Amino acid sequence: MDMNNINIEEIVKQVLSGMTGNAPAATASAPGATSAGIPKTARVAMLTDLEHYELKEFPIPPVGDDDILVKVEGCGICGTDAHEFKRDPFGLIPVALGHEGTGEIVAMGKNVKTDTAGKPVKIGDKVVTCMIFKDAPEITMYDLNKQNVGAADVYGLLPDDDIHLNGWFSDYIFIRGGSFGSTFFNVSDLDLKSRILIEPCAVLVHAVERAKTTNILRFNSKVVVQGCGPIGLICIAVLRTMGVENICAVDGEQKRLDFAKRMGATHTVNFKDHKGIEALAAAVKDEFGGQLADFAFQCTGSPVAHANIYKFIRNGGGLCELGFFINGGDATINPHFDICSKEITTVGSWVYTLRDYATTFDFLKRANGIGLPMSELITDEFPLEQINEAHKTNLAMTGLKIAIINK
Ligand SMILES: NC(=O)c1ccc[n+]([C@@H]2O[C@H](COP(=O)([O-])OP(=O)(O)OC[C@H]3O[C@@H](n4cnc5c(N)ncnc54)[C@H](O)[C@@H]3O)[C@@H](O)[C@H]2O)c1
Ligand SMILES: [Zn+2]
Repeated sequence: MDMNNINIEEIVKQVLSGMTGNAPAATASAPGATSAGIPKTARVAMLTDLEHYELKEFPIPPVGDDDILVKVEGCGICGTDAHEFKRDPFGLIPVALGHEGTGEIVAMGKNVKTDTAGKPVKIGDKVVTCMIFKDAPEITMYDLNKQNVGAADVYGLLPDDDIHLNGWFSDYIFIRGGSFGSTFFNVSDLDLKSRILIEPCAVLVHAVERAKTTNILRFNSKVVVQGCGPIGLICIAVLRTMGVENICAVDGEQKRLDFAKRMGATHTVNFKDHKGIEALAAAVKDEFGGQLADFAFQCTGSPVAHANIYKFIRNGGGLCELGFFINGGDATINPHFDICSKEITTVGSWVYTLRDYATTFDFLKRANGIGLPMSELITDEFPLEQINEAHKTNLAMTGLKIAIINK
């Protein structure tokens, strides 16, 4: 491990110490411990061509002093995986994808004693990974609270190398120490589906944190959530865990709007029922008893939806735009009517910080605790052998979150 990484570990520990307050008292495992029954090889789903995964078998390398071998239990399919599957925009093919994964530590080096938050780890613990610290000083050394992971690497989006076990769509993932040292968290106190949902949930914990910086989002604000895919639905869940109780969900799919109600939306508006933006805005206003929203979250990748959302917000209100993770084109707004004369405060939100990632574990416990149907966000489960079918189902958009589950 080089000096950079030692410093980073210290910084990360400082940032996160005390955040994961309910760490169980774990016993330290023996140095270089392994559990019995580790096979010599592991299967990895490699994307070898556009829309084509192949299951490849690779040797499991010896576990070094800083390494962790994890037996994969499951991994969600992300929108980013869908882009890679269809177009390889990052030029990674052949690549072992899957970053929304979780599994059980089956072997680890003698130097691995705690996770990134300082919580002890042992064989048998369940973990997730977050960002990798490489040569990105502004992320690694500067201010972890302020930086998001936008420019950081993660396991599941790495170029292929001679180890190959770099993605969570696999039987085993090999998390290396040293310059490939990844942040990782012991999340043994969360069930499998919650663990698979951590990464997308962190996006919304971050978005709501960004929204709070405007000082407009309050305990019982009237909030519009536009777009009820997984991102919008989880947004509603985060708001509910914060005590926001006046939530109007806007989408064009009735099934998704019904799910939004179960997730805690108090009102829904189907944009297909209203012709033109004036009628749509009037419908939102009606739902709030004749008032416009104090705050709105834009959770679609549609330029029209971005242009529409200003009309739902009151003078002096706020907006969080998080739907344009990729470039979806330009949107036409009127700066006079939409922003300037209304004094709208806007924030953008892009992925998350390491702190948000750790906060997300507590969010999931709270959401499950108040009975939100989080696990039902995972609508389709496939075994690793059906990775191609799983991605096609994801592209067909018939479900919400599609996951690979290893039996
Ligand atoms: N900021 C981030 O870090 C981040 C992270 C992940 C995803 N995203 C983005 O968030 C967006 C939502 O993700 P998702 O997985 O929920 O996608 P999704 O496609 O499943 O959901 C989008 C929803 O928006 C609805 N919609 C489309 N046009 C609309 C309109 N004009 N008015 C109202 N609703 C409309 C659709 O019916 C759909 O239900 C995507 O564009 C994605 O790229 C952002
Ligand atoms: Zn993702």
